[in-house]
Amino acid sequence: MEIKAATGDLLKIKCDAIVVNHYEGMKRPEGDAAAADKALGGAITQLIKQGDIKGKPNEITLIHSLGKLPAARIVVAGLGKKKELSTNKIRSAVAETCRYLRGKGVGSAASGVQGAGVNDIKTGEAVEAMTEGALLGLYTFRRHITQKENNFGEIKNFIIIGKEKGALEKTIGKGQILAEAANRARDMVNEPANFMTPKTMAEAARQLAATYGLKVEVLEREKMKELGMGGLLGVSQGSQQPPRFIILGYRGRPSDEIDVTLVGKGITFDSGGIDIKPSEGMEEMKGDMAGGASVMATLAALAQLKPKINVTALVPATENLPSGTAMKPGDIISAMNGKTIEVLNTDAEGRLILADALSYAKKTGAKAIIDVATLTGACHVALGSVCSGAFTNDQALADKVIAAGKETGELMWQLPMYEEYKEQLKSDVADIKNIGNRWGGAITGAKFLEEFVDKTPWVHLDIAGTYYTDKEKGYITKGATGIPVRTLINLVLAMVKK
Ligand code: BES
Ligand code: ZN
Ligand code: ZN
Repeated sequence: MEIKAATGDLLKIKCDAIVVNHYEGMKRPEGDAAAADKALGGAITQLIKQGDIKGKPNEITLIHSLGKLPAARIVVAGLGKKKELSTNKIRSAVAETCRYLRGKGVGSAASGVQGAGVNDIKTGEAVEAMTEGALLGLYTFRRHITQKENNFGEIKNFIIIGKEKGALEKTIGKGQILAEAANRARDMVNEPANFMTPKTMAEAARQLAATYGLKVEVLEREKMKELGMGGLLGVSQGSQQPPRFIILGYRGRPSDEIDVTLVGKGITFDSGGIDIKPSEGMEEMKGDMAGGASVMATLAALAQLKPKINVTALVPATENLPSGTAMKPGDIISAMNGKTIEVLNTDAEGRLILADALSYAKKTGAKAIIDVATLTGACHVALGSVCSGAFTNDQALADKVIAAGKETGELMWQLPMYEEYKEQLKSDVADIKNIGNRWGGAITGAKFLEEFVDKTPWVHLDIAGTYYTDKEKGYITKGATGIPVRTLINLVLAMVKK
């Protein structure tokens, strides 16, 4: 789909459908909806009166213009109560509208800027949300389906009508980069594990580097041994697929300093290892590299947006499988920073590979670290699928991450990091063990990671409950969600020194 900017009168546009909006509780149409109502001889007013149009969030009403307007259809999209409008609601409404129109076989659509000026929402913010909503909401993952579906249309053009074409184009461009980055991460996460192996992940990184001009380095087993990456090597030793350690670099200012280091868990399939998982739902563990995908996609977006800041992404990538060579419960391994770990559960593998990646980040001079990982089922239990868990040793950095999340609609909730939780990780035979007791599992996972960042400002995002969904809603489509790609991009943009 191409999203275009235009100025002028929405009602004069000849296309398959124009989109106008209505707020819940309003008795009469306003703005573009009022103009359309007039052209339609009061049809919208009538439908409001009858109660067909209520303006509820994500409500969609289709009216055929039957020659009264150049556009064949008018869609009235509900935006909910005016005083509750947010950019996230705009994002969702546009996504639902676009999906609806695609289902109707609509090939071209146009809309004014939805919601600008309401509740201090700036025009640029509204346009960005609309662009993201359209591209995120229309996302599909169909590359393994050989049959062409007849009733699966494509909206080829979506025109946003505003006042200044130049500004509009710029904002659409930014929204496009953010949404495409999230969709790129979705593609990687949706890809099954027989296609997305550590090797293909590394190839994807090389491809991104070549396309967008990023620095790339991929470490293989020999180098991992040299560096003492016992966590990554340990987890990978049960698998036929060799591990990879992916390093992507974006340089936006002339310095060797790395301002932000992003670390993403890259388990391309988590069977649990010898502590094998139950079979039900195990297929979702193809997405246990969602953290890795999200940091890779973030770097691709940064290379296009070009902020003046230096960012590195690190992705330890491996499968976690049981076999005769697999790590066994009770094994002791040693991470890159020299700390020894008693592996009491081979399914708590994410923290083992992250131990090495965080050590590597520190060794290469990280000033601030954000790690993203589908780390614990416990985080999903604690927070549901509504928000990701945030953990930190630096409140100021966490505040920035959570604020960026609010901006993008990717919600986060901070969980405590009290010293007392660390006691659960005491081992009798090594420096630390990789699991705690039954309680507070998301926090003990984070406390484990903290051992490998020491005092470097750090935020850990546990996306176990948010990386994947079986329900389509607003701009979130079934399967991978692309969380928290847009948050990471906005965070980095906000961290650029003015
Ligand atoms: N990848 C899983 C966590 C996960 C579970 C992510 C469900 C997404 C959805 C992780 O490697 C894992 O298995 N964690 C264990 C830790 C436990 C053994 C301490 C878990 O959560 O059960
Ligand atoms: Zn696991
Ligand atoms: Zn895992």
